[in-house]
Amino acid sequence: MKLFYAPASPFVRKCLVAAAELGLRDRIELVSAAAHPIKRDAALVAHNPLGKIPTLITDAGAALYDSRVICEYLNALGNGPLVPDARRFEVLTEQSLADGIMDAAVLARYEMVARPEPLRWSDWVEGQLAKVGSGLDALEARAAAFRARVDLGTLAFGCALGYLDFRFASLGWRDRHPNAAAWFERFGARPSMVTTRPPAA
Ligand code: BEZ
Repeated sequence: MKLFYAPASPFVRKCLVAAAELGLRDRIELVSAAAHPIKRDAALVAHNPLGKIPTLITDAGAALYDSRVICEYLNALGNGPLVPDARRFEVLTEQSLADGIMDAAVLARYEMVARPEPLRWSDWVEGQLAKVGSGLDALEARAAAFRARVDLGTLAFGCALGYLDFRFASLGWRDRHPNAAAWFERFGARPSMVTTRPPAA
């Protein structure tokens, strides 16, 4: 399999953490792709008309996207432990919450660094960060019950918190979210998380 990727993308990280937890990481070759909201990567667009990462090319040559579909695919290849049947919709909803936190944080990041400075809109950034904040509050309410869970919900939360540490350290999310912080301390030490850490900002 080939994965179009950029090391800073939390959505790519989610796929790589899932692959590592499933024992599939060695079967994935990484293909570097431009990850910019405006500049399109022709090699990637040839497989995914949206030109977005992550995009996975299967061994049969099919292009799969987005990260949710890729994670479902990897989970099926690995016989399903990351989405247990008994909790399927709970886990998938948690993944959506984590993805929403990542989406909002990435949109805020693009506004802050990719948009030309005279066009930047601070209300937009604040609006996105408000979504991050209320998403974190919902995560905080659940985190004490996570215990040792390793599934698509918890690993997506791990990637969302990792992205906040990477790009928004000044938010100090741990201050108002102690349960999430305590959980992330343990979860973030898993080899799947350590080996997929984004590069130094
Ligand atoms: C980032 O540099 O923050 C980033 C890169 C790729 C996708 C999303 C975010």
